[in-house]
Amino acid sequence: MDIKYDRRSFIKTSTVGVAGAALPLTMVELAFAKPSDNFTFAYISDSHIQQIKGNQFVRNWDRGLIRAVAETNLLTPKPDFVIFGGDLAQMGSKPELDHGAELLSKLNGKVYHVMGEHDYYLDLGEYWSKLFGKQYYSFEHKGVHFVVLNSILTHDEWTFNRWPTAQQRMAEMAGLDNPNGSPFMVGVKQREWLKKDLAKVKKDTPVVVFSHSPLQKIYKGWNFWTDDAEEVQALLAPFDKVTVFYGHVHQIQYNQIGNIAFTSAMATAWPWPYPQSYAQAQQLLPKLTVQMNRADPFFERDATGWQFIDVNSGRASATFNLYNNKVRTVAFDPQAGHPMDKTYQDPDKRIQPQTHY
Ligand SMILES: [Fe+2]
Ligand SMILES: [Fe+2]
Repeated sequence: MDIKYDRRSFIKTSTVGVAGAALPLTMVELAFAKPSDNFTFAYISDSHIQQIKGNQFVRNWDRGLIRAVAETNLLTPKPDFVIFGGDLAQMGSKPELDHGAELLSKLNGKVYHVMGEHDYYLDLGEYWSKLFGKQYYSFEHKGVHFVVLNSILTHDEWTFNRWPTAQQRMAEMAGLDNPNGSPFMVGVKQREWLKKDLAKVKKDTPVVVFSHSPLQKIYKGWNFWTDDAEEVQALLAPFDKVTVFYGHVHQIQYNQIGNIAFTSAMATAWPWPYPQSYAQAQQLLPKLTVQMNRADPFFERDATGWQFIDVNSGRASATFNLYNNKVRTVAFDPQAGHPMDKTYQDPDKRIQPQTHY
């Protein structure tokens, strides 16, 4: 079915059979007036590969990534590239990063990497950079300007002077609800780089930004938060179409601030609860988020997954592939003027959290 949205573009939805239709997935792509402009990419995030000892790794986390890689390789049409959204490792060690890199090496085609805090705080990104290259960079692809930021940096005094060992620093950052942690930030140096980088880009060029933490403020207690989010948003505000994709939160979130659309990536490892339901603390979860229908504790993969994303709209449009759940498509709806969960936004169809078990 083709839905025509405006003169210039429309969203085309098609169902693609994968592996003999055992796992059908819906792919959404934005098709421009000139079909040769269309493209897609796949997005995998938060695999948290965790060493037990020697060459033993936590099975569930391995399986989540292996499955996402296999499904990505079966996509038709083939995505132009794959983004890995950060937290490849759990404790940032060489064996974990090496093992994660080996699992990702099975992906066909180019992979771009985003730094997560679990990859970073053991050796401050040194080994990760040896494997995957720069921690922040930009690239052009078919008329879209892509930016990758390292958003999980923090104050030097916390990073360098506070901990007796690097392992302890990593362990403090690995805890979700830990008052010894420190707020994430992009930082002055990268913001200056971003300003210069964007100065070369025309205002009507679609801009897509990848960060690990949300470049918006949702819940500080769990670092669903970037302390200098507003400063980064201000640099992106002059552009007509900006989409920010982030990992880290292990749940579905989406939002629209001015011309900036925000969409989170699912984790392949485990889901986090929504802060309000678990910590019973005030959160700034965007109103536009329809919370995941959570979760069967006896099913290890429930509410984890990965997604396939449309880029060219300049609006969030993501298809969530949840294990043993219906595929959900969250896409910008031009009539409503904001992203909609096409399956569950309709009140008649909406499933409240926890009602299906
Ligand atoms: Fe994570
Ligand atoms: Fe993270």
